[in-house]
Amino acid sequence: MNNPFNPSFGRVPAVFLNRGQLINNVIQELDNPNSPYKVSIVYGMRGVGKTTFLTEVSKRIVEKPDWIAVDLAMGSDLMAALVDNLYMKAGNEFQKAFESIKGVNFSAFGLQLSANISKPTFSTYQGILTNMFDKLKKKGIKVLITLDEVKSNSELKAFAGYYQLLNRQDYPVALMMTGLPENISELQNEDVMTFLLRGKRIALSALNLAQVEISYNNVFKKSGYQVTEDILSKMALMTMGYSYAFQLLGYLVWNAAKENKVIDQSLLDEIKPEYLVELDQNTYTKIFSSLSPQDKKFVLAMAQSSKHRVSIKEIRERLNRPSNFVANYRRRLLDDQVIKSTNYGEVAFTLPFFKEYVLRQYRFEQGLE
Ligand SMILES: Nc1ncnc2c1ncn2[C@@H]1O[C@H](COP(=O)(O)OP(=O)(O)OP(=O)(O)O)[C@@H](O)[C@H]1O
Ligand SMILES: [Mg+2]
Repeated sequence: MNNPFNPSFGRVPAVFLNRGQLINNVIQELDNPNSPYKVSIVYGMRGVGKTTFLTEVSKRIVEKPDWIAVDLAMGSDLMAALVDNLYMKAGNEFQKAFESIKGVNFSAFGLQLSANISKPTFSTYQGILTNMFDKLKKKGIKVLITLDEVKSNSELKAFAGYYQLLNRQDYPVALMMTGLPENISELQNEDVMTFLLRGKRIALSALNLAQVEISYNNVFKKSGYQVTEDILSKMALMTMGYSYAFQLLGYLVWNAAKENKVIDQSLLDEIKPEYLVELDQNTYTKIFSSLSPQDKKFVLAMAQSSKHRVSIKEIRERLNRPSNFVANYRRRLLDDQVIKSTNYGEVAFTLPFFKEYVLRQYRFEQGLE
């Protein structure tokens, strides 16, 4: 059997852990025209599973006969891509109807405009789209638009303006976006985009540890691997419920134990260096470099504590800064999901071995001076 774990980004993995009822609820909510989920933002730090979640929702919603889903990506002309994708996804009957829209021509390559409107403007697309949505609405077809990794730029701004119009006119068109917390907060600075921010926020946090353990147990036992409960718990703890880490650890363990089919402490020790290197390279470096210098100081003060859960008081003392200053950075890092609050006045890192990563990073930087 092939390794069922897949530590690559953006694909629904073979070993997929359901986040409780979240997806079911979202799917149900989307059918309600007045649901706050009509516009929603899935957010969370790198590697928590935003793209996977979006893909899964999109896959599940089109199992219903009255839905189509259009997956858009930033970096292309969103309006043009929406026309093309809508055409592709809509099926034969609608394709015929779309072809009757004046001045446009669809081919296997997508939309083609007749000579007199060869330079499409925003309002050209707007006209075509509204026409298409009209035809869909008349037949009771609802559309989910997914938009991965939103960033504040002029393209999104234009798209948001158009979407807002559709929404105001009660078209059954839902919009689900994903974004890193820092990109989402940038949207606040633009008028049209604040409309997007009023949508439902879907925060993805860590996977449930018990579920991680059960899943490892099922996958490995079923494939004839020997592993004790104790080791399974250790593996779950090594991931701290971080989605990417769950795939990565499963993947490395599977490969390393392929011959002997025994997963024990010495095997975990053997793969740990590679596990850490992959985490560093693929996510931690990006996460750390997106922090501001003050965020980094806060994070370092936390890492230097001997405790896993660090009191804010201790951090304040190490930083030697007033409490409102420290509270401000605490809030920012909580928003970015780099830290979580464990108890009143206490925080801990969200990611596995992030403390070690920060300390190592600090040692390197010291070495340079
Ligand atoms: N529910 C889940 N169960 C198991 N594994 C998951 C789940 N969701 C995501 N993963 C795994 O986690 C990893 C990261 O997922 P994904 O690419 O969706 O994250 P992301 O939040 O979109 O990251 P980025 O911010 O870098 O785009 C992938 O390897 C994916 O297979
Ligand atoms: Mg992603």
